[in-house]
Amino acid sequence: MICVIKKKSYLKSQNLKVFGQGKLNGIVKISGAKNSALVLLAASLLTNERIILQNVPRLTDIEKMSNILKNLGVNLVDKNNTLEIDSHNISIKELPYELVNGLRASFFCIGPLLGKFGEAKVPLPGGCNIGSRPIDEHIEGLKALGAEILIEKGIVKANIKGEKSRLTGTHIKLKCPSVGATETLIMAASLAKGRTVIENAAREPEVQDLCQMLNKMGAKIFDAGKEKIIIDGVNKLVGCIHKVIPDRIEAGTFLIAAAATSSSITISPVIPNHIEAVTNALQKSGSKITIKGNSITINPRELKAVNIHTAPFPGFPTDLQAPFTALMTIASGESQITETIFENRMNHVRLLNKMGANIKLNKNIAFIKGVKKINGMELVASDLRSSAALIIAGIVAKGTSRIYGLEHLDRGYENFESKLKILGIKITRELNKRNFTEKEYKIATGHDDIPKRKVA
Ligand code: UD1
Repeated sequence: MICVIKKKSYLKSQNLKVFGQGKLNGIVKISGAKNSALVLLAASLLTNERIILQNVPRLTDIEKMSNILKNLGVNLVDKNNTLEIDSHNISIKELPYELVNGLRASFFCIGPLLGKFGEAKVPLPGGCNIGSRPIDEHIEGLKALGAEILIEKGIVKANIKGEKSRLTGTHIKLKCPSVGATETLIMAASLAKGRTVIENAAREPEVQDLCQMLNKMGAKIFDAGKEKIIIDGVNKLVGCIHKVIPDRIEAGTFLIAAAATSSSITISPVIPNHIEAVTNALQKSGSKITIKGNSITINPRELKAVNIHTAPFPGFPTDLQAPFTALMTIASGESQITETIFENRMNHVRLLNKMGANIKLNKNIAFIKGVKKINGMELVASDLRSSAALIIAGIVAKGTSRIYGLEHLDRGYENFESKLKILGIKITRELNKRNFTEKEYKIATGHDDIPKRKVA
């Protein structure tokens, strides 16, 4: 299967040159969480009053989401990492396909639009081009809240059933604790008439952050972070100031990079219990972890192999599986990495093996025999988290690597290479140095272990 990249020129004209055998040293500032900021932007549609969102990371995904909101009629002022969002003038309840452009989070808009205006037209999300993730949990939940939904020519068209002007509170039991579906349903239910109970809800910190902001806006949401969330619908939501939580995935990525290079660093700000599964795995693999308030210091020692399996929060996050796999390639001993959330999230394995790793893949389990060294080379990342994994591998490797596919990295890591540079890594973004021919790019990304679903 071939991955059609929309911004071919961007892909071909940029790469990161990573000098291997690097060491990290110092303190790194963790940005606001991408996955929180995206859903909080959508939640701001629920009020006519101004939302001030602080600590918003500068990422291409955020830029895309901002453009989607602006297109709906939202007045959005961007002041560095603070966004002022004024949705009182929304005139359109439809997201244009061109702007959605593969941004899965765009689908979040369906909940607020339906909850507030009683109608929404949103393109099916997940645009990679090579498949999409299901949205059945979102759709079934919205239907249970009283929506009538029709999917036509790739557009999800939603209205409130009958003569009613509001959705109606109900009891929903999710089949799987989907983060996105939990968030969509919380937003829709916050303006519904009556009480909604969501069972088997996702417990991720980003869901909790959403509920915290909605409660500041006047919503009545109880037990966010638990498996059963209760939402008492209100008539109206108001403006507020909210600071996005630190990005636990970025935090974990830096800790893993430090462990891989036997480097001591401190990350801050971070909410330590958001990444406990990761710090536990790092401790088991030989690192000393010191937590002081909102900062974590890692002092790696001998790197030992450990097994992990990804799981919903508070389990080991799927978004850190690829970086952790890169770490285990050079650990002493054998490890098993099991991906349980997404069935095709192992495309970094083939690339790590090209660098000299010894990984056998059996479906969603990577069996890794640690090697003493891996070698730098030219690689094309094909999703967000595997791009981080390849950069970590490049820093560890002997020789120089060139990592392409930066449109994925730039979706989710704010100033990644600048932060690495501050920590002492030799890494540079090269422009127009290497142009893939169409054929080469297809070979590089068209392997059958490319994910059928675009992830993160
Ligand atoms: C979010 C995160 C992503 C993270 C993932 C899991 C955002 C923008 N992205 O994605 O970084 O990797 O959580 O922590 O917040 N599923 C269904 N039906 C549905 C919805 C989901 O079967 O209607 C399945 C999916 O195929 C997957 C699992 O549920 O196997 C988890 O997906 P979900 O939690 O929904 O992930 P996202 O919200 O898309």
